Amino acid sequence: MLIEAENICRSYQNGDTRIEAVKNCSFTIREGEFLAITGPSGSGKSTLMSILGLLERPTSGAFRVSGQNTEGMAADTRAGLRNRTFGFVFQSYNLLPRLTAQENVELPMTYAGVRAAKRRERARDLLQKVGLENRRAHFPNQLSGGEQQRIAIARALANSPRLILADEPTGALDSEKGLQILGLFHELNQAGSTIAVITHDEDVACHTGRILRMKDGRIKSDELVLSPQSRADAQKVARFVRHPGHGSADLPPRRPQ
Ligand SMILES: Nc1ncnc2c1ncn2[C@@H]1O[C@H](COP(=O)(O)OP(=O)(O)OP(=O)(O)O)[C@@H](O)[C@H]1O
Ligand SMILES: [Mg+2]
Repeated sequence: MLIEAENICRSYQNGDTRIEAVKNCSFTIREGEFLAITGPSGSGKSTLMSILGLLERPTSGAFRVSGQNTEGMAADTRAGLRNRTFGFVFQSYNLLPRLTAQENVELPMTYAGVRAAKRRERARDLLQKVGLENRRAHFPNQLSGGEQQRIAIARALANSPRLILADEPTGALDSEKGLQILGLFHELNQAGSTIAVITHDEDVACHTGRILRMKDGRIKSDELVLSPQSRADAQKVARFVRHPGHGSADLPPRRPQ
């Protein structure tokens, strides 16, 4: 299992007040999933993502990444596990303004010690994957918001992370550009990437395969999202169950056992 969280809590002490940002959350994430963590502002989504991405430690509870218990892990082991496992995408893109698109995508590979020729080639491939091969020499301020976010996604993919964590990746984009980013995530997921999108927007969440809903720091529900085809099939089956004998010709084919 890629991620296993058992009863994790995270609280912050602010003077006399103690804020419990994440309370008793338990869930797992497997390789290949595309999920959304959703909930209103202040419900603990970003705090949960920081714990997921090993940026913060839970105050209590067990948290395992690729089967490794992270409690008491030395800081450098933790940093290594973080760099090998996660790719981060943020609402504000966080590109370095003085580096070109190509250089921004190369940066995580530079940190990981990848040789220059290899870096250049992989950054080119990644920029092509996000549809921006003709923007390689542009600086962030010469790119639109949607383009900057695609560069940030290419950068997040640089070291082939096992999980992409995206906090409000469409938050700064209009709805059409936001849909393009979701379409890109969908393609990446089809090609094998595991992706968790944090969003307060239900419409965004509905484009993924699973929705984990948070409220007041707790996970309120954890549901699979049916594809439009599966939803239509489920409705046909429900109609048949209510009125047996009618509409059986419409029933979806049975899946092999
Ligand atoms: N470093 C911190 N110190 C103190 N309190 C914090 C800290 N980080 C988060 N909190 C509090 O924890 C709660 C959850 O915050 P969090 O940022 O996880 O919410 P969120 O669901 O991501 O909200 P939004 O949709 O507005 O981004 C909030 O009440 C917030 O004020
Ligand atoms: Mg947040």
